[in-house]
Amino acid sequence: MMWHLLLLSFICTINTIHGDSVRYPAIFIPGNGGSQIWARLNRTSPPPHFFCARKSNWFELWLDIRLLLPEVIDCFVDNMRLTYNSTTKKTSNLEGVEVQVPGFGHTSTIEFFDSSGIGYSSYFAPIVKSLVALGYTRGVDLRGAPYDFRRGLDEQQEYFENLTKLVIETYEQNNQTKIVFVTHSMGGPFALYWLHQQTQKFKDKYIQSMINIAAPWGGAIKALRLMASGDNIDVYVVSPIRVRPYQRSAPSTAFVMPSVNFWKDDEVVVVSPSRNYTVHDYKAFFDDIKYPTGYEYWINNKDLLNELKPPEIELHQIYGSQMPTPGVLLYNNRTFPDLQPVVLPDNGDGTVNIRSLLGFKNWEGKQKQDIHSTELPGVEHLAILKHPTTINYVVQVLSGQFNKEK
Ligand SMILES: *[C@@H]1O[C@H](CO)[C@@H](O)[C@H](O)[C@H]1NC(C)=O
Ligand SMILES: *[C@@H]1O[C@H](CO)[C@@H](O)[C@H](O)[C@H]1NC(C)=O
Ligand SMILES: *[C@@H]1O[C@H](CO)[C@@H](O)[C@H](O)[C@H]1NC(C)=O
Ligand SMILES: *[C@@H]1O[C@H](CO)[C@@H](O)[C@H](O)[C@H]1NC(C)=O
Ligand SMILES: *[C@@H]1O[C@H](CO)[C@@H](O)[C@H](O)[C@H]1NC(C)=O
Ligand SMILES: *[C@@H]1O[C@H](CO)[C@@H](O)[C@H](O)[C@H]1NC(C)=O
Repeated sequence: MMWHLLLLSFICTINTIHGDSVRYPAIFIPGNGGSQIWARLNRTSPPPHFFCARKSNWFELWLDIRLLLPEVIDCFVDNMRLTYNSTTKKTSNLEGVEVQVPGFGHTSTIEFFDSSGIGYSSYFAPIVKSLVALGYTRGVDLRGAPYDFRRGLDEQQEYFENLTKLVIETYEQNNQTKIVFVTHSMGGPFALYWLHQQTQKFKDKYIQSMINIAAPWGGAIKALRLMASGDNIDVYVVSPIRVRPYQRSAPSTAFVMPSVNFWKDDEVVVVSPSRNYTVHDYKAFFDDIKYPTGYEYWINNKDLLNELKPPEIELHQIYGSQMPTPGVLLYNNRTFPDLQPVVLPDNGDGTVNIRSLLGFKNWEGKQKQDIHSTELPGVEHLAILKHPTTINYVVQVLSGQFNKEK
């Protein structure tokens, strides 16, 4: 009898240690386009159309789908785009455009792209919702870390300082429980950069693990298409060339260009009538598309993220595959650079090439913490956030059930 009681108490202790009562707080780091941007206008420079507002109160600039309608979209693009000062190497908003990224520390602005909260704009919402159903609380143990995704790593110092504070605060407010990062897309490389700046002692104390969903560790060919010809931001009615001024002006577009560590020296990534470009020909590429500022953006960011250096925390990688993904861009003398190229497909998640999604394999054997990964064939870059396997995976990790099951 005594023996049974002892055994029972032993089992209970094991259960506690292995996480029955654990609930790791989560910090969500969104990808490119995954934070809301609000603007207030008092423009002196003329907007592109007479009907574009010159003055306004705070309004949701990114993303309000109504601002993407034909014609109106030019007003939107003009307010979103950045200008570059090559002396200071810094970008700014257009004069008279004031911008803020609301909701730091909360989840409201990373759950949906658009504050209307309707279905099409769902972002981390399905994951957050599932966790709330399990007893999690928004703003307490579910926290968002949105940022001005237009800018590259070189202009996020203040954001990263705020992120450090958020990690410590979340840990303390949750009974000194280690946090789990949940990132999507570009949020992964951003978190990696931040992790590289932290000491091992800090990481061991505050961070349980990181779940990276669809992370482009080595960039994506698609970014070159954005730079050359623009992209319709997945909205059918939007004309790529009209969004291009914004997409080009965002250093983050250059940050996610294909990395020299992931594409071969002689591998052609863009074909134009006059020459072929490899990842070593970005200078010529930007000169030829007549956007030399893009090359400066690339220079300012290319060495900041050492994508081959492990984060030295436990990792979970979830990514889609077997979706047609831009592999090589073929332009002719009619299409270069203003019209959409013919695209040779590569394996990937529709946005990010598979080699980039698999970039975490560089770290295997180079860090002592575990690296787990799950590939979801046929699941697209954004759709992966509402895939049941993804949601279930995140729930398992956060509730401490992940290691138990193995
Ligand atoms: C708008 O800009 C003008 C000229 O730059 C300035 O005089 C005015 O005070 C500004 N208005 C507001 C509300 O900031
Ligand atoms: C760029 O920044 C420098 C240094 O602050 C300044 O002198 C210059 O006027 C700026 N250039 C433009 C075009 O704003
Ligand atoms: C950082 O936090 C401060 C204080 O809360 C806030 O004013 C600032 O806008 C934040 N900056 C960024 C880049 O998130
Ligand atoms: C906080 O942690 C301590 C020790 O780990 C535990 O005894 C206590 O019950 C926890 N409190 C809450 C509110 O979870
Ligand atoms: C570009 O590469 C293609 C195939 O790789 C080749 O046929 C073509 O001649 C090259 N064009 C130039 C201008 O070098
Ligand atoms: C464009 O390419 C076609 C076929 O390669 C060629 O016949 C034509 O002369 C070129 N046009 C110009 C303007 O270079």
